[in-house]
Amino acid sequence: MKNSPLGMDGKNCIITGGNRGIGKQVATEIAKMGANIGIITRNRIKGEKAVNEIISDSKNNQITLFVTDIASQEQLKQLSKEIQQKFSHIDVLVNNAAVLLRKREETEDGIERTLATNHLGPFLLVNLLFKTLEKSKSARVINISSDGHRKAEIDIEDLNYTKRKYSGFKAYYQSKLLNLLFTYELTSRIESLSSSIILVNALDPGRVNTDIGKNYDTVSYRIFSKLIRPVISISVHQGAETPIYLATSREVNGVSGKYFINRKISKSSRLSYDRPLQKSVWKLSENYVGINSEDYGVGDSIE
Ligand SMILES: NC(=O)c1ccc[n+]([C@@H]2O[C@H](COP(=O)([O-])OP(=O)(O)OC[C@H]3O[C@@H](n4cnc5c(N)ncnc54)[C@H](OP(=O)(O)O)[C@@H]3O)[C@@H](O)[C@H]2O)c1
Repeated sequence: MKNSPLGMDGKNCIITGGNRGIGKQVATEIAKMGANIGIITRNRIKGEKAVNEIISDSKNNQITLFVTDIASQEQLKQLSKEIQQKFSHIDVLVNNAAVLLRKREETEDGIERTLATNHLGPFLLVNLLFKTLEKSKSARVINISSDGHRKAEIDIEDLNYTKRKYSGFKAYYQSKLLNLLFTYELTSRIESLSSSIILVNALDPGRVNTDIGKNYDTVSYRIFSKLIRPVISISVHQGAETPIYLATSREVNGVSGKYFINRKISKSSRLSYDRPLQKSVWKLSENYVGINSEDYGVGDSIE
C-alpha cells in the first residue's frame, strides 16, 4: 500500500456517493493505492458501513466519512468547511453521486431533485472547494456523466421542470448533459487562470449493474433490474475503471476538458460543445445556488 505504483500514496481524494455502486468501488480501489479517502454519503449508517467495508477491503484505514445530502445547498456549505478542516488540499474530487427518480420531487431549496443532486451539487461543491483543489500540486476533478446525455432535451428556461411535463429519465439525461456543459466551461475558466493546474474531465462508465434506478419503482423497471440488467451490464468493478484511470493515471497528466469512455477520449454530443449554452448554464447554475463563481476564484468565462 505504501509504495503505490501510480503515486497515490497520501493523496487526498473525495468521492461523492461512496457508499455503494461505482463510487464505493472507486473509493476502495484508490484506497488500495494508499490515498486518504473522504466519502460523502447522505445517510450516516450506510456511510459508516461503507467506510468499514472499504477499510477491510483496502487495508487502508485513512477513510473519512462526511455525511451530507449533496442536493442541499446549506449542507454543501457546511461540508466544504468540514472537508477543509480535515484536508489542507484536495488532489482528486470525483463527482459521482446521482439519482434517477420516477416522480418530480423538490429539495428544501425548491429545486427539482435530479437537477439539484446530479448537476447543482457538483457545481456548488467545485466552487466551494476550488481554492482547496488549487492547493494541490496536480488536482483532478472527475465528473461522472453518462452517454445517455445524447438523449437530453435541455430547456434552459425550465431546467427545473416546472413548465414541462416531468419524466425521471428526461430529467436524468438533461442532468448528464449539464455535467458535460459544466466540465467544458469549468475547463475554459481554469485555462483563463494562468496559475491554475486543475484538470477536469468527464466520463461515461458504461452500462453498469448498480441500483441507480432503485427509485424508479415500476413493475417493468423491477423486472428489468432483476432479470435483464445483470445480463446486459458490466460489473461495478469494470464500471469503476475509467474514473479510477482519470483519478490516478499518469497518462492523464495535462489532459483536461475531455470526455472518456473505456479510458479513451471520446466525442460527446454536439450540444455539449455549444459555448453559448455552456456559459448560459453556468450563469443559471450560479443563480440557482446563489453564488458568484468569481468570489471563489473560478476564473472568467472566455471564448
Ligand atoms: N449504473 C450505470 O449504468 C451508469 C451509467 C452511466 C452513468 N452512470 C453514472 O455513474 C454514477 C454512479 O452511479 P451508480 O450506478 O453507481 O449509482 P448508485 O449505485 O445508485 O449510487 C449512487 C450513489 O449516489 C449517492 N447519492 C445519491 N443522491 C445523493 C445525495 N443527495 N447526497 C449524497 N449522496 C447521494 C447514493 O447514496 P444512497 O445510497 O443514499 O442513495 C449512492 O451512494 C452516477 O453519476 C450515474 O449517473 C451510471
